[in-house]
Amino acid sequence: MFATSRLFSVAAKRSFSTSAANLTKVAVLGAAGGIGQPLSLLLKENPNVSHLSLYDIVNAPGVAADIGHINTNSKVTGHTPENDGLKEALTDAHVVVIPAGIPRKPGMTRDDLFNTNASIVRDLATAAAKYCPNAHFLIISNPVNSTVPIFAETMKKAGVFNPKRLYGVTTLDVVRASRFVAEVKNLDPKDVKVTVVGGHSGVTIVPLLSQTGLEFTKEELDALTHRIQFGGDEVVQAKNGTGSATLSMAYAGARMANSVLEATVGGKKGVIEPSFVKSDIFAKEGVEYFSTNIELGSEGVEKIHGLGEISAYEKELIAKAVPELKTNIAKGNKFAQ
Ligand code: NAI
Repeated sequence: MFATSRLFSVAAKRSFSTSAANLTKVAVLGAAGGIGQPLSLLLKENPNVSHLSLYDIVNAPGVAADIGHINTNSKVTGHTPENDGLKEALTDAHVVVIPAGIPRKPGMTRDDLFNTNASIVRDLATAAAKYCPNAHFLIISNPVNSTVPIFAETMKKAGVFNPKRLYGVTTLDVVRASRFVAEVKNLDPKDVKVTVVGGHSGVTIVPLLSQTGLEFTKEELDALTHRIQFGGDEVVQAKNGTGSATLSMAYAGARMANSVLEATVGGKKGVIEPSFVKSDIFAKEGVEYFSTNIELGSEGVEKIHGLGEISAYEKELIAKAVPELKTNIAKGNKFAQ
């Protein structure tokens, strides 16, 4: 099913030793939600996962019982807040993926989710700092531009922040960009790689279409840039009040989690994914976190790629993204203080 055959190549499986595989507990927080369920399903298919621990404030044991019948090797456990469930879910986790929190409804921006999701992420970070401070944390909960700083500040307060192991998940933006550009140019998306930088909301999402090696008219550039920046809105509108992207997000989240596993436990080299991480690129402008392509290594973030050569059009997009990002990050930092 799905693209597991592509995601988890035979070579990757071979490079992943059995002893390492025994150590890869992956926790999903928010596992019973729209993203959490299909994401957990995809992770159950991942041979790099030995134990999948599913946590949610509701229904996680049911999801775990269901997924646990799939005949792959990993163990699946389900946890709710009762009986120290969060502690159980997190202890010994190597990777923690966090899609906990409310999604958008039509007309909402990701920032409108702040009031509810900020405290959810802070509380999960507090628990993570206590029970699995050395794990790799993949933050899906929106607004990512603010929830990543909240997670970081909470870890800092506990004295356990490791910037190499905190990733805002922006994978869906490159997945969408690849699909949208391929549609316009009649190409197979697997041959279309689009670097997307900045953050994960509206104008902070900056596709670097000039680096694709393809030619675009001004109309195509405008339309594609807008579609990549606001692609999430298409799903929110189509779902008509019942949520935002869940299935494509689960696909993107599973890809990111797999890349982190392959690099940190599988010993695979040259694994590159985009991610919203602590970054110096716009630090002078007061932007502490920024998404670019990241090379992953055994410790997590090994090398942060720069922007590379960008067009005048893209410089303008960046100029709009930077002040918005600065505001979003400051809002997260302030909340966590
Ligand atoms: P959902 O409402 O279907 O699921 C969220 C789950 O989180 C629910 O099962 C809920 O019980 C659980 N939850 C709430 N508080 C919790 C807590 N304290 N601990 C553990 N679990 C808790 O929402 P959906 O569609 O799964 O979206 C989740 C988040 O992901 C939203 O904030 C959404 O905006 C974001 N998202 C991020 C994307 C990205 O590219 N980074 C893309 C799409 C959505």
